[in-house]
Amino acid sequence: MILIIDFGSQFNQLIARRVRENEVYCQIEPSEITIDKIKSLSPDGIILSGGPASIYEENSPSIDADIFKLGIPILGICYGMHFMIQALGGKIARPKKREYGFATLQVKDESTPSLFKDMPKSFQCWMSHGDSTEILPDNFIITASTQNTEIAAIADLKNRFFALQFHPEVEHTVNGSEMIKNFLFDVCNCKKSWSMDSFASGAIAQIKEAVGHKRVVMGLSGGVDSSVAALLIHKAIGKNLHCIFVDNGLLRKDEKKSLEKVFAANLDMNITFVDAQKKFLDALKDVTDPEKKRKAIGRLFIEVFEAEAAKIEDAKFLGQGTLYPDIIESKSAFGGPTSIIKSHHNVGGLPEKMNLKLIEPLELLFKDEVRKLGIELGLNDDMVWRQPFPGPGLAIRIMGAVTEDRLKILREADSILLEEIREAGLYRSLWQSFAVLLPVKSVGVMGDKRTYDSCIAIRAVNSKDAMTADWARLPHDLLAKISNRIINEVDGVNRVVFDITSKPPGTIEWE
Ligand code: XMP
Repeated sequence: MILIIDFGSQFNQLIARRVRENEVYCQIEPSEITIDKIKSLSPDGIILSGGPASIYEENSPSIDADIFKLGIPILGICYGMHFMIQALGGKIARPKKREYGFATLQVKDESTPSLFKDMPKSFQCWMSHGDSTEILPDNFIITASTQNTEIAAIADLKNRFFALQFHPEVEHTVNGSEMIKNFLFDVCNCKKSWSMDSFASGAIAQIKEAVGHKRVVMGLSGGVDSSVAALLIHKAIGKNLHCIFVDNGLLRKDEKKSLEKVFAANLDMNITFVDAQKKFLDALKDVTDPEKKRKAIGRLFIEVFEAEAAKIEDAKFLGQGTLYPDIIESKSAFGGPTSIIKSHHNVGGLPEKMNLKLIEPLELLFKDEVRKLGIELGLNDDMVWRQPFPGPGLAIRIMGAVTEDRLKILREADSILLEEIREAGLYRSLWQSFAVLLPVKSVGVMGDKRTYDSCIAIRAVNSKDAMTADWARLPHDLLAKISNRIINEVDGVNRVVFDITSKPPGTIEWE
């Protein structure tokens, strides 16, 4: 395995994905990790990530410098490079100007092993740094330079230490993935052993061992994560898994039907459908403030779920579809991008209140790996490629009060929009596409008659991880078709608009 040390870079997860794409397992750990813990993980190599700090700042992140004595190959990236150089006796300078953006790398490396194996002598890389190297520690050679940065890549072949001033993990660096690949296989001698096939058999055995003959309860949301987690747990313990699906009345059209279809192949799976539509609508009556909506839905979900779970005797575990990025963010010493803009992205509070042990079989996986695992476990394509859908459902896509009538309008409009997006072959490539019901009415004319009806906004975004997103440039013909169909087919709508806001400054959802 490869150990990635988190110095606070926004690209940590990208580094991890680049490693795992090569079928090598890796783990991101905070820089406070002890040498003993590192030894116990026995990594084949260590990557020191970049980070926003300067090595000269007070409290800048650091790791026990004894890692350089472990005999393990190390790759330092940007801040990780500065840390390595300073720890090994070199010097970092603070130029007045930051270097940011594209640069042309000139490779001077003739050595073996080399991160630049089988690459041209000159290509584009992507820089983002303030500090840079002034004096190299003993044993290091310069392996590549750019016009502004002479020491852009270095190597200490004796100790197998490598460092890059630029970011090989981002797509803007040509051959960046290859550099990481060369580090894994030529420097660290890693073997390809990380696949979803081997992961599934290992995880099933672990779940069996951890759960024994006890029971697991789990909430199904209709999304890919909880579905894959449930299938995995079901493969391990069969009927001792009890799934609960709470119909909060805020679901999209035919959602329950499609979930039933997904699990139809697993006939012996215990799934309880709880119809709590009325309860949720009552709790949301006259609530218009977005945060109040979210809180009311979260509270009620816990209440309904708990009451149902209490009926399952001998339940000792709560299954959850938590993914690796959530774990990394909650572990990061620098907080990650965690500032709370909207409350409870994941319904919290369940495990503490219910006195159940958590079982999170996907906690080491990225989304793309969860999808591969889903296919491995026989989940259909529709479910595996589902766009994310928020826990509070349509309530946060209805601006203003949530009523049955307004839910009906949004459900119909959303269903038309999704049908057309699928028909156009765009469903998979878009991160999300959905309809929003606005709290305004406007005047229109239909069949010579004046109308005064509601307005639907179309939201469609491209994103890699929902942290940032760009509004999708949907073809005009497609927009025209969606607009036409919504106005013709959905009673109560006479106007459709298209949201052209990216994130930031907007968020993906409207509330
Ligand atoms: P925002 O609107 O914050 O959304 O840009 C980012 C991503 O998170 C989803 N989202 C949620 N998911 N519970 C969830 O499970 C929530 O309360 C929630 N709020 C937003 C949103 O759909 C997008 O993918």
